Amino acid sequence: MIKYPPIEFWVHFKKTKGAMSTAEAIFLYNACLQVDGDGVCVEMGTAYGKSAMVTLMAWADKGRKTLFLLEPLFEGIDFLREVHTSIKDFQKELHNTNCVFLKNLSTDFLPKYDKYSYIFWDSGDHSPELVNKEKPLLEDKVIKGGILVLHDINSQFTACTEAYNDLINSGKYEAIEYDWQEIFDYVAKNNLEDGNNSWHQYPELPHPPNFIGALKRK
Ligand SMILES: C[S@@+](CC[C@H](N)C(=O)[O-])C[C@H]1O[C@@H](n2cnc3c(N)ncnc32)[C@H](O)[C@@H]1O
Repeated sequence: MIKYPPIEFWVHFKKTKGAMSTAEAIFLYNACLQVDGDGVCVEMGTAYGKSAMVTLMAWADKGRKTLFLLEPLFEGIDFLREVHTSIKDFQKELHNTNCVFLKNLSTDFLPKYDKYSYIFWDSGDHSPELVNKEKPLLEDKVIKGGILVLHDINSQFTACTEAYNDLINSGKYEAIEYDWQEIFDYVAKNNLEDGNNSWHQYPELPHPPNFIGALKRK
């Protein structure tokens, strides 16, 4: 059964700049609810914090589970301050899950740990060069039952789709699926996409963007 974040959540999500539809946020929320285990949890490509808020919301009941947020733009103090303030405001109101802001690149961070319970993969330009550097750094490090979420699959970013399919074909991962039609209906009924501050726009689609996929390590 698909679960939905509390309705107050959308105020924070929608006003935060970034690249995610509310339909994708619901998918991500459900994938994050499945995260368990004591491996490291990391988001690769945080930008202004849209996706991070979804994950933190899903983990509201998981105590102090830590989410590492990787974003090279955190190098800029004004950028970091903006994202930090926005996430702290959200946390103050909705819960207090722990997160750590890091300016590291995915390719520098991934080798630091051997066990991952959650990786959100949304870094950079999604070029084949970057995706093909990241994939071998994470493929064997997600622990059994661990969740890997990929943004921008089935879109113009073909390297992401290839990585998603390769990981399934490797036999190490299985796809997690949710009923997109149910999600689109919920988004429409609650007018969620209205006012969502996202540059991830595909007006040619008859529904909000749904370029997100999740894999579970077997
Ligand atoms: C598509 S945006 C992320 C959108 C974000 N997840 C959201 O919810 O709005 C990609 C981000 O990855 C960052 N980035 C670039 N190279 C990276 C790398 N190697 N590791 C982590 N992040 C990277 C970029 O600065 C950019 O902000």
